[in-house]
Amino acid sequence: VATRNIHLTGILYSHYDSYAVKRVPSGISPVIAIDKKAAKPLYRQLYDGYRKAIVDGNVRAGQRVPSTRVLAQELAISRMPVLSAYAQLLAEGYFESRVGSGTIVSRLLPERITAVRTSNAPPARISPERRRLSKRCSTLPSAEGFYRRRGLGPFVVSQVAAEHFPLQAWNRLMTRHSRSMHARSLDFGDPMGLKELREAIAIHLRTARGVRCEAQQIMIVSGSQQGLEITARALLDPENRVWMEEPGYNFARSVFAFMRCRVVTVPVDTEGLSVAAGMRKWREARAALVTPSHQYPLGVTMSASRRLQLLDWAERYGSWIIEDDYDSEYRYESMPVTSLQGLDRNSRVVYIGTFSKVLFPSLRLGYVVIPTDLVERFLAVRFAMDISPATFHQAVLADFVREGELARHIRRMRLLYAERRSALIENLRNELGSFVEIAGAEAGMHLCVMLKGISDREMAVRAARQNLHLLPLSPFYAGNAPQQGFILGFGSTSVEEMPDAVRKLRIVLDSR
Ligand SMILES: Cc1ncc(COP(=O)(O)O)c(C=O)c1O
Repeated sequence: VATRNIHLTGILYSHYDSYAVKRVPSGISPVIAIDKKAAKPLYRQLYDGYRKAIVDGNVRAGQRVPSTRVLAQELAISRMPVLSAYAQLLAEGYFESRVGSGTIVSRLLPERITAVRTSNAPPARISPERRRLSKRCSTLPSAEGFYRRRGLGPFVVSQVAAEHFPLQAWNRLMTRHSRSMHARSLDFGDPMGLKELREAIAIHLRTARGVRCEAQQIMIVSGSQQGLEITARALLDPENRVWMEEPGYNFARSVFAFMRCRVVTVPVDTEGLSVAAGMRKWREARAALVTPSHQYPLGVTMSASRRLQLLDWAERYGSWIIEDDYDSEYRYESMPVTSLQGLDRNSRVVYIGTFSKVLFPSLRLGYVVIPTDLVERFLAVRFAMDISPATFHQAVLADFVREGELARHIRRMRLLYAERRSALIENLRNELGSFVEIAGAEAGMHLCVMLKGISDREMAVRAARQNLHLLPLSPFYAGNAPQQGFILGFGSTSVEEMPDAVRKLRIVLDSR
């Protein structure tokens, strides 16, 4: 380590420009206006500029500052005034410096200096009427509850058995791909998604889901939510009517609301969405969003005759069917049902799938199977949104699928989730007996318990006080006749945890 000591204006300079063997990362240069013609000396301009940046909260405690060499270069001035300014800031305790780790803004600055003006709140005198948002933005539901629900013990919906994920295999593929990054990997990816991944998904979907598709029709998206957004933008205009299952997937409702479409709620019965009811309500709707493999949230599987009726309706009225097939890899009591898309002979179905349930949700990867003649237009929409999906994790996932890890994981998880599901049902029966009706347990990672004579929202609030986080069913109804109950996830709740969790649920229900 070569530390230089330079004497200037009587102050000993040391440390802050050390040439350590370890490379010290340089900080970002702050915006400091330097006037080379001003009477005020350059070192003073720099000193004042830095102090102001710190006091204004633009440069904060602990933040690395650029080396004197870098700052001098960027400001196109000699290094001397920079050295002087840094020495002064160091001497007055604005900066601190350690050999080998460079100079940072002092972490010991008094609060009264750093706490000033670090908030970005708009000035109080601006009235809300002068801060207009788009109507469609103002009416979207808040996302804050989403953060509160994550990682909160048993029954949380959409959580997978993370501790059983084959991280070793995943990390091996991550390492393989990070080692083989090359200059070409840095360019934009294919806007449809990585070819190898699309080919692997096409094989999986044709085989396991009976989807009629080629890799050219598959667009990789960041989860089914983006798939839905792209589909809605490609197919729908404001004021178009869209059939949605009642109860239905709230996140999808937000997409249609954002498009300013009119949602027509269509009841779900034991055979799935009632096509006849939909026709009575709004026959010429532009599209229908359905979850035929495992209706969300009730869990019904759409019957064969309903599937044919729905396809027939779509063809007759020139409507689109959006099939959200989010968790059908896990089926417990029967063979997997084939997709609705696989029955369609008129290219009326857009099929959307996701890796959120089958692998893990932070992956943010899903896919849309687009009717061949619409691929070019969907691509134009994707281009207007995010150009192309990030490449790295697609490459990892492509190998994960191609090397049989996905199929192996599905087989293992099907057994694990089947056990968790049985444990949940058994404990529900033991604790709640005839009070409870269980629905939708044939597939996926959640089931519904329907309850009579209670308010599920009120119970959920009560349960939260006991640290039990329950997802009430009634908010998934848009109409005014909601059923009461809870959607219980069992993906991340072990068999051992189940008795206690269900007992806690019973105690909450007993406290009515
Ligand atoms: C009905 C439904 N569709 C899709 C998803 C997955 O969405 P994404 O792929 O955006 O994570 C979920 C939930 O997690 C869901 O419940």
